Amino acid sequence: MAGKITLTMIKPEAVRNGNTGKILDKIIEGGFRIVAMKYLKLTRAQAEQFYFVHRERPFYKDLVEFMSSGPIVATILHKDNAIEAYRSFIGSTNPKEAAPGTIRALYGTNIQENAVHGSDSDENAIIEAAFFFSALERF
Ligand code: CMP
Repeated sequence: MAGKITLTMIKPEAVRNGNTGKILDKIIEGGFRIVAMKYLKLTRAQAEQFYFVHRERPFYKDLVEFMSSGPIVATILHKDNAIEAYRSFIGSTNPKEAAPGTIRALYGTNIQENAVHGSDSDENAIIEAAFFFSALERF
C-alpha cells in the first residue's frame, strides 16, 4: 500500500474542543477512505516513542506532554498519493500559516496544538500505521 496510506491523529486539543466529528466529516468528504480507526490516550512513553524523530528539537518535551494530555483519534487513511494529498488538505504545521479552509486553519490553535498530525513520508506512514494498528485492524 506504499504511496496510498497516511496516518493521522486528531490531537488532544481538537478532541477536547469537540471537533472530532467535524474533522472526520471533512476528511471523508475530502475523499480519504478510513482503513482503521482508534480512540485512545497515549501514555507519555508512547508519545515519546511516536515522536522520537523529534527528540533533539526544543519543543519535544512539551509536545510529548501535550500529546499524552488526553484522548486522540488515530486513523489510517487511504487515497492515491496519500501523503501529499493529506498534507495539503490539512495545511501548514502552524495554523496561522495554513491555507484557508484547511483542517489546521479551521481547527488548529497554535503550532503545537495544530488539530491533526499527518505522516511526512511513505516510509513514516508505514511505521506510524504499525505503531497503532495490526493487520487485523485494517479494512
Ligand atoms: P505534527 O504534524 O504532529 O509533527 C510534529 C509536531 O511537532 C507538529 O505537528 C507540532 O505539533 C509540533 N511542532 C512542530 N514544530 C513546532 C514548533 N516550532 N513549536 C512547537 N511545536 C512544534
